[in-house]
Amino acid sequence: MQQVQAVVAKAKGAPVELVTINVPDPGPGEAVVKVQACGVCHTDLHYREGGINDDFPFLLGHEASGIVEAVGPDVTSVAPGDFVILNWRAVCGECRACGRGEPQYCFNTHNATQKMTLSGGDMDGTELSPALGIGAFAEKTLVAAGQCTKVDADARPAAVGLLGCGVMAGIGAAINTGGITRGRSIAVIGCGGVGVAAVAGAALAGASPIIAVDIDAKKLEQAKAIGATHTVDSSKVDPVEEIKRICAETYPGAEGADVVVEAVGRPETWKQAFYARDLAGTVVLVGVPTPDMKLPEIPLIDVFGRGGSLKSSWYGDCLPSRDFPMLVDLYRQGRLDLDAFVTEEIGIGDVEAAFDRMHGGDVLRSVVVL
Ligand SMILES: NC(=O)c1ccc[n+]([C@@H]2O[C@H](COP(=O)([O-])OP(=O)(O)OC[C@H]3O[C@@H](n4cnc5c(N)ncnc54)[C@H](O)[C@@H]3O)[C@@H](O)[C@H]2O)c1
Ligand SMILES: [Zn+2]
Ligand SMILES: [Zn+2]
Repeated sequence: MQQVQAVVAKAKGAPVELVTINVPDPGPGEAVVKVQACGVCHTDLHYREGGINDDFPFLLGHEASGIVEAVGPDVTSVAPGDFVILNWRAVCGECRACGRGEPQYCFNTHNATQKMTLSGGDMDGTELSPALGIGAFAEKTLVAAGQCTKVDADARPAAVGLLGCGVMAGIGAAINTGGITRGRSIAVIGCGGVGVAAVAGAALAGASPIIAVDIDAKKLEQAKAIGATHTVDSSKVDPVEEIKRICAETYPGAEGADVVVEAVGRPETWKQAFYARDLAGTVVLVGVPTPDMKLPEIPLIDVFGRGGSLKSSWYGDCLPSRDFPMLVDLYRQGRLDLDAFVTEEIGIGDVEAAFDRMHGGDVLRSVVVL
């Protein structure tokens, strides 16, 4: 057991605190990772606001890279000294999804068995709930060994760590879930870290047009820099009509985009995605709604009549062992600009301020660097 500094959300809505936590030595199937970088994802804010569940206190942070410090007695997949990206899909190999050959839908992913706990103060010994089973706004964290995906050690930790959640979720929403390819059109509603990553994924796949939609002009500029061919400010114009118009310019007769990715997580933007999609097109919901949100009222005949598919995308339907090394390679070849997602490197004490800046429009990702 060792003590380290970490960012904890103790109660619903309360500002996060930098505190001392206990990290157990790794047991069977576990690894302790010295965290080098961890991005601030909107999902961390959802946790702090009680939008995921009520298992406070949370140990936040979940898009991270670092160096394996120690592994449990039976662990052979990674070794001390390995540079890894942490993932929240350590597949079990045994559930029904894994059994039918679709481990990207694994229902029983692995996390560490032992618990990290608060150290000192009136909550001493209280078990922590690590965000997405990771908890990496911490100098060190305990995870399941399968949550460590070894990648090329040359890569910049702050950039490739983002593949651990938001950037992978966005790229995968476009490519894996949406099945976007060249010769197809895509619109992305919401251009934060996740949405802009969907734009980057669509550009990698050769899609055109790639239409970025946001209510913030600065976000649209960032999306354009990373591969959007068109931008739509939905605070000023009706995004559904605009997406239809742009797609029909490229593909006469098109009634929307082949794929529309919703990367906000709200009923009204999902409804926009539904109607901005071409006949037989695909909606991909990658934004995370809160439990109180309801499906918007849509005539069932529109669901039937327009055909196609309405999908959700957990983690971009990725397989970390397959997708992380591949995307790190593309980054190192200069074909995927992960550096563009790192707006600022911050200290471990600056997470609360980064949450505030999330609403400001200037930041794609703040990344805690240790
Ligand atoms: N499915 C997954 O596996 C997964 C993984 C990571 C994050 N997420 C979720 O994806 C969503 C986006 O995350 P992020 O980190 O990019 O957040 P973010 O806060 O960086 O970005 C959200 C963007 O949406 C824009 N926006 C807000 N309201 C809008 C509206 N009405 N119309 C158009 N744009 C609007 C904002 O201006 C901002 O640019 C969150 O809900 C997050 O929880 C999902
Ligand atoms: Zn499984
Ligand atoms: Zn995330």
